[in-house]
Amino acid sequence: MTQAHQITVNFADGVSHTFVAEPGENILEAAIKAEVPVLYQCRAGACASCTCKLAEGEAATIPGASSTLLASEFAEGNRLLCVTAAESDCTFNVAYSSEVGSSVAQEVNVFIDSIERIGSTVMRLTVELAEGNWLEFRPGQFMQITVPGLGVLRSYSPSSTSLTLPKMEFLVRLLPNGAMSTFLENQAQVDEVLKMKGPYGAFFLREEYKRNPHIFVAGGTGLAPIMSMIDSLRQAGGKKPSMLLSFGCAVPEALFGLDDIELRQHWLPTLKTRICVDRNATEGLHQGSPVSALKEEDVTDPNTVAYLCGPQPMIDAATTRLIALGVKPELIFAEQFVASN
Ligand code: FES
Repeated sequence: MTQAHQITVNFADGVSHTFVAEPGENILEAAIKAEVPVLYQCRAGACASCTCKLAEGEAATIPGASSTLLASEFAEGNRLLCVTAAESDCTFNVAYSSEVGSSVAQEVNVFIDSIERIGSTVMRLTVELAEGNWLEFRPGQFMQITVPGLGVLRSYSPSSTSLTLPKMEFLVRLLPNGAMSTFLENQAQVDEVLKMKGPYGAFFLREEYKRNPHIFVAGGTGLAPIMSMIDSLRQAGGKKPSMLLSFGCAVPEALFGLDDIELRQHWLPTLKTRICVDRNATEGLHQGSPVSALKEEDVTDPNTVAYLCGPQPMIDAATTRLIALGVKPELIFAEQFVASN
């Protein structure tokens, strides 16, 4: 890697940017310098926000850099731009439009409106943007909230949509000794100010497919971005697509948000739901994972689009199952949530 290489990034809206990456330079840095609107967040191979597909040329992970990509994903041409260097001139395709990456993350203050435990391990946190602060986000994207006193950042996707701004709602999974969990359970006060930055992430509702049938698979608080997507489809004008939500938790006591889901069903006759628990299913619940609740007849249209959010094993299983049922791999969008203590 002794030579600079020409890099081209093609966006889903047909816009292309070409720039130069210096020898050994990670392509994300080169793209940022050239003001190419690629999505990123951690810059360290951990969040997958900068995922793209190598269409031409050779590009490999920088020696010593860590990457969350599986060997199979790498073999399929996926690359994380932040830990990748070019070995020749390269072309990458990204799955979002150039306009998406242009929305820069904003740093804002928010006031806590309410904190409510809604399940054995989940809190609902509602906040309101402080006067003079503003941001916009796409349904599915996430924000980083600073835990007061500790200064550490935690990432959460709003379960609300931009239409409810300046109010936002988050679903926070409670973890034993978790920084945000401890703060919310023991210290947080209504009207307290939190620092928030966002939006981030390449997991968001794709406008171009909004008329296609939708399948949503959510595990635990992976429900939050999915609710934002469902509400966004509900709030959009025109005919609603058929939608299936398969949502699951470990046990019935851990389930949450069922009233909200029921309300959406009432408002959206095209929305079907399956509520799942791994064990101790009671009447009306599917025993098994939200992936095992997917049936052959759920995919009748080859243009079905799927959104998955939850733990990585659920995402892997859902992806395999949906492809087997006939969903095109390029119409499956996923976000893994990673617990941090
Ligand atoms: S920016 Fe997070 S993996 Fe590249």
